[in-house]
Amino acid sequence: MSKTSKKSSGLSSDKNWWRQAAIYQIYPRSFADSNGDGIGDLKGITSRIPYLKSLNLDAVWLSPFYPSALADGGYDVDNYRDVDPKLGTLADFDEMLAGLHKVGIRVFVDIVPNHSSNLHEWFKEAIAAEPGSPARNRYIFRNGRGTNGELPPTDWVSHFAPSAWTHESVMGGKHNQWYMHWFAPEQPDFNWDNPEIEKDFLKTLKFWADRGVDGFRIDVAHALKKDLSEPLRNLNVFEGLDERGNKGKGIFADRDDVFKIYREWRKLFNKYNPPRVAVAEAFVHPERLPLYASTKTLGQCFDFRFIETPFEAGAYRIATQEAIELAAKNKSSCTWTLSNHDQIRHATKMGLNPAVNRRDWMLSNGTSHPLDVEAGIANALAATLYILALPGSTYMYQGEELGLHEVTDIPEKAIQDPQYLRNNKVDKGRDGCRVPLPWTTSGKSFGFGSGGAHLPQPQWFGKYSVEAEEKEPHSPLAIYRKALELRKSLQTKEEIKWHKTKDVSVLHYARPNGWHCITNFRSQSYPMPKGEILISSQPLVDGRIPAGTTVWFKK
Ligand code: BGC
Repeated sequence: MSKTSKKSSGLSSDKNWWRQAAIYQIYPRSFADSNGDGIGDLKGITSRIPYLKSLNLDAVWLSPFYPSALADGGYDVDNYRDVDPKLGTLADFDEMLAGLHKVGIRVFVDIVPNHSSNLHEWFKEAIAAEPGSPARNRYIFRNGRGTNGELPPTDWVSHFAPSAWTHESVMGGKHNQWYMHWFAPEQPDFNWDNPEIEKDFLKTLKFWADRGVDGFRIDVAHALKKDLSEPLRNLNVFEGLDERGNKGKGIFADRDDVFKIYREWRKLFNKYNPPRVAVAEAFVHPERLPLYASTKTLGQCFDFRFIETPFEAGAYRIATQEAIELAAKNKSSCTWTLSNHDQIRHATKMGLNPAVNRRDWMLSNGTSHPLDVEAGIANALAATLYILALPGSTYMYQGEELGLHEVTDIPEKAIQDPQYLRNNKVDKGRDGCRVPLPWTTSGKSFGFGSGGAHLPQPQWFGKYSVEAEEKEPHSPLAIYRKALELRKSLQTKEEIKWHKTKDVSVLHYARPNGWHCITNFRSQSYPMPKGEILISSQPLVDGRIPAGTTVWFKK
């Protein structure tokens, strides 16, 4: 079988397009709302294709748009091969895909293979079925401990609830068993030791690849396989969720047997022309990243280190060097990213004193410590230009091109995120980066749609709207557009060469095509080296680079 992309596309035929691509994450519910119901939808995305084109992107990645009761923002999937009626139809999907392809933008969809939702047909069947039945064997059901099975089977903990086990009676089951979920109770984990699951996900991948989807982002790719041998092992440590030290032999994360699944997926991807691509979301020990990113498995794996690296020259240099060396190990390319739908927006992180405990700051609605709004945006833009000039692909998150800050003061009654609601409210959750985008300076939902917005937008959003920034020649939006356009001619050998600087707060590297990137992280100001300036994240002052600025130049 050899499936070829549709003829009417403006896509390049380069099989390696993904190696140094600019990929923009769309969180569909919060991007653009076409029907005024307050929830972003696929037609909304289609209506904004001219905007996406203007960003000079290679691809977009869509967070889940599948039928879902939204217990976890759509990462609780009821049906993997359909569109949520709140977001549109399969026909809307095809229209959006064709529209994006026509302007040369490829599309990634999000695959959530670790768990379904509790409303998935299979889970409903499992709850109704007998213990030990084939229907229950698609998930992880076990008897409890204690005299009457009243205690969870093991001490496993979940991300969104104290225990990774919920008694089936909560979901209407009548057999006194418990089922396992690494996230919310509405997200039961699949039993990947059951070949039926593997077969069904191959069917899902084929379904979307046949429709013309170019790539897949694989949610919690490290967690599919668990050690389910009896008796189940206890973790015996509260920090059991983090199995980064286990190097292939943990209980429920990053096990060596997960790669058997991805080798099968790779065989499917390679049947298409160009081969479909995939990027793993895997929180694993850095040494393990190449296993997920291997050309024999998924091909790329997010390297999240810049999400937590402080905006500081020494830390950036080490992070850059390590990532380049790791990518070289498996013939993959680097994956740079500063933000996504699970993270506090990086403009905010970079505008806070690094010593501030961000979790507590968020819980105080952003009032416990001052935020330097302007410095945050300046540093964020400098960081963006720094990573965009590096070899590899960059994954960006909607709204960062506007310099958007985190919304910290969402009222408790409006919060949707299970990370807050189910975790004893010890963490404000992730809604603050998922507030619907501002398109216009005013109006009921700042142009997001004709109705309201499913999460409240603050008044200051208007200043950061697309409309406001399109009028400003030095706005974050203008800088993103120009940088991404320039970057198209940076498809050169995946190498960098460090240049010495006279200040430890300044990093300078060059690419083989003669492009240079210099970032002044913290120094008062730094003399601009000789060369033709291509772009600067902030204007130079008297020929010097101010703090929190990156400049690209040519020699
Ligand atoms: C996604 C989250 C989601 C979780 C469970 C992740 O890593 O990015 O948004 O809550 O998987 O599916």
